Amino acid sequence: MKPLNIGMVGYGFMGRTHSNGYSQANHFFPCEYKPVLKAVCARNKDKAQAFADTWGYESVETDWRELLKRDDIDAIDVCTPNNLHKEISIAAAEAGKMVLCEKPLAMNQTDGEAMCQAVEKAGVKNMVWYNYRRVPAVTLAKQLIDEGRLGQIFHYRANFLQDWTINADVPQGGAATWRLDAEAAGSGVTGDLLAHCIDTALWLNGQIKDVSAMTETFVKERMHSETGKKEPVKIDDACSFLCHFDNGSLGLFESTRYARGHKALYTFEINGENASIRWDLHDLHRLEYFDHNDDSIVRGWRSVHVSDGDQPYMGNWWVPGLNIGYEHTFIHQVADFLKSLETGEQMHPSFRDALETQKVCDAVLDSAAQRVWKEV
Ligand SMILES: NC(=O)c1ccc[n+]([C@@H]2O[C@H](COP(=O)([O-])OP(=O)(O)OC[C@H]3O[C@@H](n4cnc5c(N)ncnc54)[C@H](O)[C@@H]3O)[C@@H](O)[C@H]2O)c1
Repeated sequence: MKPLNIGMVGYGFMGRTHSNGYSQANHFFPCEYKPVLKAVCARNKDKAQAFADTWGYESVETDWRELLKRDDIDAIDVCTPNNLHKEISIAAAEAGKMVLCEKPLAMNQTDGEAMCQAVEKAGVKNMVWYNYRRVPAVTLAKQLIDEGRLGQIFHYRANFLQDWTINADVPQGGAATWRLDAEAAGSGVTGDLLAHCIDTALWLNGQIKDVSAMTETFVKERMHSETGKKEPVKIDDACSFLCHFDNGSLGLFESTRYARGHKALYTFEINGENASIRWDLHDLHRLEYFDHNDDSIVRGWRSVHVSDGDQPYMGNWWVPGLNIGYEHTFIHQVADFLKSLETGEQMHPSFRDALETQKVCDAVLDSAAQRVWKEV
């Protein structure tokens, strides 16, 4: 097998999901490429070493620039907070490395464009970890839409709801709460959660033309973990927007970290002329499907348990009827990336694909700030 030597920067939540993906992909998806966990990079050497020992990385680095200099690294996996994506990705591309970057691609469209240009100029393979495309039920939704089963699409509706920042004592900034610090995150729920909903929507339903958004920051000041002082909160705690898609359908998106009771409720529903589709991350194996062409006396919403061998990805897992989960989306993404190396086909979502999501996020934030409709 051909090795794909991975150098991963950051070993937090995503560092774990990706490491698991690299370790498992070849067990279930045969491919001529094999990821090799060459090095993990983080600023604290002891913590990086502990992570390397747990997951089987061969070495550690404490400065990502040193990682980029190494000849034994083929691909840089960027698992850091958002404000580091641009610098690391561009330097990695310039060093001739493949770049696998976490989402959102960048802090804004301008940075994202520079990142796209860097990987394209260097001619290096690239992808962004919008992993929800690779939930088998979501991939099946794509298949049904592409087959034309829904007919003309009228409505696209998506939510991503959480409740973890309601307490005003939650600080901003630092290792645990960088998502509340605009300097590290760029934006709040828009770049963190809605970016996922937008990526899925663009993939399933095509481009978004224009948006009208509102955002709110419910807790205006929070203690900053690094300065120890109360500072203004500059991220959006909640964001809702309306949009027009190029295909004429209307979109409605909502995201918040203030929906008490919801931890990660990502749902979408698509209503077409002939059929509708509904999906819920909390029940990720199920695709709800309503087909108006069904015999009227039994017509109704079906709950399809996407676990059969002829449904996306499932033929490579256990036996029909048995579940897989969240971590498998990352295994699928690694497997598809390895396959793209084998076939030479472009991996999706690429940096360019992810830039489209970035453009929508920027338009949403601009629309909310200026209280006007914005073209994407
Ligand atoms: N695809 C998804 O579903 C998904 C889910 C969560 C997070 N993310 C994205 O993944 C990225 C990381 O998020 P996370 O939840 O893993 O965060 P995290 O806080 O758990 O981990 C971030 C890691 O980056 C490291 N880091 C920070 N600065 C560094 C530096 N200068 N050099 C080396 N390492 C550094 C930290 O030590 C930590 O290990 C973010 O961009 C986030 O938006 C994506």
